[in-house]
Order: sequence, then C-alpha cells, then structure tokens
Amino acid sequence: MTIKKTIAIASAKGGVGKSTVCSFLATVLSKDSKVGILDADIYGPNQDILFDINDKNIEVDKKNTDRPYIPKKVDNISLSSLGFLLDKNAAIWRGPMLSSAINQIYEKTNWDELDFLLIDMPPGTGDAYLTVCQKIVPDFVILVSTISKLSIADLRRSEHVFTSLNTKVLGIILNNIHQSDDFQSFNLETENTVLDRLEYDKKFIDSTYPFDDLKLDPLFLNTIRTIKEHA
Ligand SMILES: Nc1ncnc2c1ncn2[C@@H]1O[C@H](COP(=O)(O)OP(=O)(O)OP(=O)(O)O)[C@@H](O)[C@H]1O
Ligand SMILES: [Mg+2]
Repeated sequence: MTIKKTIAIASAKGGVGKSTVCSFLATVLSKDSKVGILDADIYGPNQDILFDINDKNIEVDKKNTDRPYIPKKVDNISLSSLGFLLDKNAAIWRGPMLSSAINQIYEKTNWDELDFLLIDMPPGTGDAYLTVCQKIVPDFVILVSTISKLSIADLRRSEHVFTSLNTKVLGIILNNIHQSDDFQSFNLETENTVLDRLEYDKKFIDSTYPFDDLKLDPLFLNTIRTIKEHA
C-alpha cells in the first residue's frame, strides 16, 4: 500500500465549504490520478452524501487482518468515512475516543495505491487536528475561508495551529459563500497564498458526484497545478 501525498482540507470555522471543496478537488484530481478521501468529520460526515453513497455500513475483509476496511469505490475515488464506523452518539465523544476513531479508520482502511489522499477535517482546532497532524502527518493542508471578518480571524488561528504542528499550509481557497461584492478585490495579507477563489454558485448546493454540470476544472486550475508541483 502506498499513499503518495496526503492533503488535509481544513478551516477552524464551520460551514465555509471544506467538504464541498474536498469533494470537488477529489473529482478533478481523479481524472488522471487515484484519489482517496478520508472523511474525518465526526460531527457531520458529509462525503457519503456528496458521492451519493447509500450503503453506510463499512465493508470488512476478514482475511485482511491489518487493513480490513474496504473503502467505497466511486470511479477513481476510494472513500472511507468516520460516518461508516460510528453510531449517532459519536458526536458527543470525548477527545481520546475521537482520536482513536480517526486513527482506526485511517490505519485499517485498505487504501491500496493512491496518488492523493484528501482528508475532510471537522471544524475547530481541537483533538482531530492533533491526531491528524501527529499520527497521520499530512504532507500539507489546504485552508478554506470566506472573506468575512470572523472567518478570516479563524483562518489566522488555523494557520497558527498548523504551523505550530509543523504541517505546511499549501495555500488558501477563498469561497464566496456570503456572496460578497468585494470578493474579487479582497486582498488577503498572509504569508500563505490564495490558491483559487470560488464564487457563490447555487448549483453547488445539494449537487452530487460526478458534478458534471458544474464545470469544476477551470475553478481549481491553480490549486491543482500547485498540488501537482508538490506531488
Ligand atoms: N461557493 C458556494 N456556493 C454555493 N454554496 C456553497 C458554496 N460553497 C459551499 N456551499 C454550500 O454551503 C454549505 C456548507 O458547505 P460545506 O458543508 O462544504 O462546509 P464545511 O466547511 O464542510 O462545513 P462543516 O464545518 O460543517 O464541515 C453546503 O450546503 C454547500 O453546498
Ligand atoms: Mg464539512
């Protein structure tokens, strides 16, 4: 089993578009690469919905004692999710239980050969961050933010947390979820570059894979180029 690059998609603030960006990026990357998604959001695992997966039970290969979990396959994408593993009480679990669940799903999934593993992070900067950065050790993280003051304040916090955990921030995707008029001219003063700017698009809401009518490729040109430069 080889995973060439692991990329976390994160933001301290909730509801800014992490899961959406994660599923879109996976879809664009999967056109010429093998991609895995680890949905590490204990509070609201959403990737199964975005990929229209109805069977929420984890499939187990009992003969494979090291890595028994079989990810759900959608074309070139392999999806494993905390949501397949946990019951509804999991959202009120304490940190150590959450950490061990994230470790378990990561380590026991038979990812096979992957060019990219994308990790859809939960909001916040708590135990999930520590576990992912210290145990999974992603090659880099992509942050998602709107341009609202509150989102930018949380963006700074995320940047600080990842830097102090020695995880490289590859860049930021700004998402105009609030439909701000200032979006295109907004200048983010930060060491980390803006990879791409995603406009508000009502077609994004409740869309599911393969996202054919969304024409995703041009939206992520710079992000994909930057990821591949680091591959
Ligand atoms: N650019 C956009 N235009 C329109 N809707 C969007 C856009 N980006 C995201 N959305 C919508 O906003 C909502 C929140 O997005 P999403 O669930 O991806 O955020 P999140 O950061 O993963 O949230 P959480 O912190 O709860 O995990 C979803 O309904 C999604 O479809
Ligand atoms: Mg999410």
